[in-house]
Amino acid sequence: MTQASSATSRTVRIHAHGGPEQLVLDTVDVGQPGPGEIRIRHHAIGLNFIDVYQRTGLYPNAMPLALGMEGAGVIEAVGDGVSHLKAGDRAAYAANPPGSYCDVRVMPAMNVCKLPDGIDFETGAAMMLKGLTAQYLLKRCRPVEGLVAGDFVLFHAAAGGVGLIACQWAKALGLQLIGTAGSDEKCALAKAHGAAHTINYRTEDFAARVKDITGGKGVKVVYDSVGKDTFDKSLDCLMPFGLMVSFGNASGPVAPFAPGLLGPKGSLYVTRQTLFTHITSRERTQEMADDLFEVVQSGAVKIRIDQRFPLTDVKTAHESLEARKTTGCTVLLP
Ligand SMILES: NC(=O)c1ccc[n+]([C@@H]2O[C@H](COP(=O)([O-])OP(=O)(O)OC[C@H]3O[C@@H](n4cnc5c(N)ncnc54)[C@H](OP(=O)(O)O)[C@@H]3O)[C@@H](O)[C@H]2O)c1
Repeated sequence: MTQASSATSRTVRIHAHGGPEQLVLDTVDVGQPGPGEIRIRHHAIGLNFIDVYQRTGLYPNAMPLALGMEGAGVIEAVGDGVSHLKAGDRAAYAANPPGSYCDVRVMPAMNVCKLPDGIDFETGAAMMLKGLTAQYLLKRCRPVEGLVAGDFVLFHAAAGGVGLIACQWAKALGLQLIGTAGSDEKCALAKAHGAAHTINYRTEDFAARVKDITGGKGVKVVYDSVGKDTFDKSLDCLMPFGLMVSFGNASGPVAPFAPGLLGPKGSLYVTRQTLFTHITSRERTQEMADDLFEVVQSGAVKIRIDQRFPLTDVKTAHESLEARKTTGCTVLLP
């Protein structure tokens, strides 16, 4: 192991599930990395909607819970068996277990990637969880009849963190992404980032608009992270053999449904995806990260950071995200 002295860290934790008022800044001891672990000092931390699910208890965890699954900074020490990183390296990650809302932490090395020189820490912290998600959604989660340039797909919450990355990446792949968003301003933002069409789903019937836009045919894939409010109608947007990708619950979890209804709607496929199934090995994580680094460094995908909060103001950051006041990515600064 490379040596570095032990330290304490300001760490945002919850001691009970609940609202943003549960977020408290504790001081915790940070030890040395064990086998397969690294110690990283953060320069920026990514905010994600999953942090809200973990805080509320929709995704329950043992208490106390240090929150946060995305960050970027400098490696301070590496444990035995870690060969892809060394002390002094710039690095970024999306990873379990949670705990990135802090100055410094010890964590498993597997999902931590060296950050290319051309990518700054804030961008690294903003893009790993959201960008790897866009990567697997567009490239590793395919409809049975394939996905080729020119195909229509529907992407909900297109002006959000994952959404703006997906708009740009889909355009680079030649897909016609129809993006939904909760205001005309957000729709304009999604369009400026590559959405071929946009729908304000607070004022318009998105299923009817999708039928209009696609000449009655529907889309090959729906990417739905909104959940409760959009799931049922999203099934009506799909063409036969289309793929419904449920990957989030911003409006609440999807209600149980009868698979029998998928037949008459066109022999549809439904999947519930999570990034953490895709990044269970070092090799796969690096392969997906390299793909992300390439589109970011080429300029095909720009990581838009629209909100920056000091780590000490994490409550406001959570309130803004839940109140649909944010666009693009949000970072916390230690
Ligand atoms: N399964 C996975 O692998 C995975 C990985 C990453 C993210 N996700 C999911 O992807 C989604 C996007 O994540 P993100 O971190 O980039 O967040 P985000 O998109 O920046 O924020 C969530 C957006 O959801 C929309 N929304 C619709 N109804 C909402 C409601 N009732 N309350 C709050 N928001 C609502 C809002 O946009 P409008 O105002 O435009 O509707 C809001 O801005 C989240 O659901 C997240 O859980 C899943």
